Amino acid sequence: MALSKISPTTTKAWQNLREHFSEMKNLKMTDLFAHDRSRADTFSIEWDDFFVDFSKNRITEETLDLLLKLAEETKLQAAIESQFSGKIINETEGRAVLHTALRAPETATVLVDGVNIIPEIYQAKKQIQSFTNQVINGEVTGFMGKPFTDVVNIGIGGSDLGPAMVVEALQFYKNQLTTHFVSNVDGDHVNEVIKKLNPETTLFVIVSKSFTTQETLSNANTIRDWFLRHAPEEAIAKHFVAVSTNSNRVQDFGIHPDNIFPMWDWVGGRFSLWSAVGLSISLSVGFDNFDELLQGAHKMDDHFKTAPFKKNIPVVLALISIWYNNFFDTESEAVIPYTQYLNQFTTYLQQGAMESNGKSVDRNGASVNYQTGTVIWGEPGTNSQHAFLQLIHQGTKLIPADFIGFAESLHGNKDHQDKLISNFIAQTEALMNGKTESDVLAEFEKQGKPLENIQSLVPFKVFEGNNPSNTIFIKKLTPESLGKLIALYEHKIFVQGIIWNIYSYDQFGVELGKQLATNILQDIKNNTFANHDASTAKILKYYLKK
Ligand code: F6P
Repeated sequence: MALSKISPTTTKAWQNLREHFSEMKNLKMTDLFAHDRSRADTFSIEWDDFFVDFSKNRITEETLDLLLKLAEETKLQAAIESQFSGKIINETEGRAVLHTALRAPETATVLVDGVNIIPEIYQAKKQIQSFTNQVINGEVTGFMGKPFTDVVNIGIGGSDLGPAMVVEALQFYKNQLTTHFVSNVDGDHVNEVIKKLNPETTLFVIVSKSFTTQETLSNANTIRDWFLRHAPEEAIAKHFVAVSTNSNRVQDFGIHPDNIFPMWDWVGGRFSLWSAVGLSISLSVGFDNFDELLQGAHKMDDHFKTAPFKKNIPVVLALISIWYNNFFDTESEAVIPYTQYLNQFTTYLQQGAMESNGKSVDRNGASVNYQTGTVIWGEPGTNSQHAFLQLIHQGTKLIPADFIGFAESLHGNKDHQDKLISNFIAQTEALMNGKTESDVLAEFEKQGKPLENIQSLVPFKVFEGNNPSNTIFIKKLTPESLGKLIALYEHKIFVQGIIWNIYSYDQFGVELGKQLATNILQDIKNNTFANHDASTAKILKYYLKK
């Protein structure tokens, strides 16, 4: 079944939410807690090794009920079924969206054009497993017979961000291989990586679904040229593998057909780390850990498919985000993981959320008259406390934030962990409670400061609070829990796209820049700057004169 094409603003729930917002907009969360002793229980979900607290939001049970009605009226349940069963829900590109099939069990059946795709997924998984084991055990070697020491993933966007984020996140589980990522067409990026490599012991994984991406092919060519300065042509077969749907182009590049790992049309780039795009993950942490990551994601898939929406983590988080985005008119959301391992998590999420839901035309082809995709940003805590959190606490903008923490530290340093977690918990408490004038005065009094000396400082020290946050507290960072966390956000993005009545799985917006860059490159080569607006021409002229 095709996706519904219902504008959210035409639903009864939307009208009710508008009215409800006028009652809610000035309500204090602290008052809501004061009047409801069970609020923390009502607005939290415990599932598996996840504890999600969403009680520190400017919502009541009525808000949540209305948001759930919105999901119902926009046919979310049918959309979930359509996605998981392989319907062509990426209508603008004529494709199914089946990253969930990549982590389904071998016994599952998922049909694309009447053919069950699970056997080919498992065949690819076996290929990943056997290659990973051979590289890690040193059974396949470089052209001088030496075991591989380094792996370089060459790709960009979805062919880089997911694997790079996961490899860093799971570094505790890593083996002896050192993994590098080259993505930017900036030649300084690739050259800084090359500097660290020994051609005799480095394996290159070129990841490009299309195998036409300028950045990836430029970097792959630069690396191949460098490699061939140190190795004979036939060594390419031992040192270069590729992940792509475009095996002709891969072979034109010189890669042996046995060294090609498949990708499929029904996997979007930004949701592809579960496929062979995640080969660098498997190489870095071993196939078993890679598989655990997939199994974790599958558990979240099951939760998303089967849990009642009221207790469904991705659904609830998506609805709350819509509440702020479309009724409080917030523009952005912060995602703040309290673990350095998730240093790249927010960058990764930016592509997932912003490439998917940065759309202003609805599924009817009409311009939307409401806000869609939110700006996602953030950095790990506690670093972010010493950088941008001041603005969320005392600035003029309302910025809902997700705080993600792990109860156990991997290296087991209790002193550090207690400090980390106390900061993690303190931030959401401070965001909600703020600091009243009487709190400030009491603090000064405790410090023995006379009132007349400090009176003028009081307004600067007061802050209102009432800033919303979600806490996603997970037992421990493991491949499995990371898989669940990533899948949670994938589903959140999906739910929002469905309710906003947009197509989340195309990305035509990135094409224009690529086309214009091709024209400008031609101008640079021809030393011309005519066919542009005055500003662009002047910038180009500046570059040409250097
Ligand atoms: O940025 C646009 C985009 O198409 C992404 O969606 C994709 O992840 C990336 O480029 C890389 O594409 P490819 O894997 O085809 O090289």
